[in-house]
Amino acid sequence: MNKTTINTLLEWKKNKKKFACITAYDFTFANLFSKSGINVILVGDSLGMTIQGYSTTLQVTIQDMIYHTQCVRKGAPDSFIMSDMPFMSYSSLNDAYKNAALLIQSGANMVKIEGGEKWICNIVNNLVKRSIPVCGHLGLTPQSINMIGGYKIAGRNQKDSEKIISNSISLEKSGIQLIVLECIPWKLAQKITQTLSIPVIGIGSGKMTDGQILVMHDILGITVNNIPSFSKKFMNESYDIKNAINKYVKSVENELFPSKEHIFD
Ligand code: KIV
Repeated sequence: MNKTTINTLLEWKKNKKKFACITAYDFTFANLFSKSGINVILVGDSLGMTIQGYSTTLQVTIQDMIYHTQCVRKGAPDSFIMSDMPFMSYSSLNDAYKNAALLIQSGANMVKIEGGEKWICNIVNNLVKRSIPVCGHLGLTPQSINMIGGYKIAGRNQKDSEKIISNSISLEKSGIQLIVLECIPWKLAQKITQTLSIPVIGIGSGKMTDGQILVMHDILGITVNNIPSFSKKFMNESYDIKNAINKYVKSVENELFPSKEHIFD
């Protein structure tokens, strides 16, 4: 298999080839996913919930992210791997430099940062200048859970929707090379996907984005609680994990997932 790079993703956007991404946190699953048609893996700070059993992502540390990024890289040497910068690990420029570098040195190709305010754009701009590729994350941003007051759809009113659009443009101008849109109305995600020239990956944001991402535990149906309404347990239709992941990849590529019941207006 050829190595997947940011250029591969850009090429897919240009050619309108939809792509599927997944979260992974360890060697075995990363390896299995990379052999089941997945080229893009996120070591998400969702590991705070899926691996560590917390109810938010806020307890995840940079040491946790380093450890899981190293494990995933060993399992998927040719995949494009993004790692989340955890809560408060990029609250100052110096922290951002130091912690982003640790994730890149652990095997990540890109780091992901939540939010699109001016100070975030400044962090992005400075990381990129220092050769650290950055993925943005807008819409529902779980690290701000205590400000938002709950996990809910973002960008439903005009003011919020305009803010998400303008933040996405500011982030692109600041140098992000990829963006994740979480839980926003599909028409808003479509507009951002058409406006930006970088690839846009959606989760709970409809089928018009360039790529989709899901949390591995939801796909496999091994969550403690119910899976979110925008997600799908592909394991239901499959006899093994490889088959389930393959079904997910094909469903995204053929625009069968997400379908009507997984999207928000
Ligand atoms: O942490 C994570 O898994 C994420 C995805 C939900 C996009 O940020």
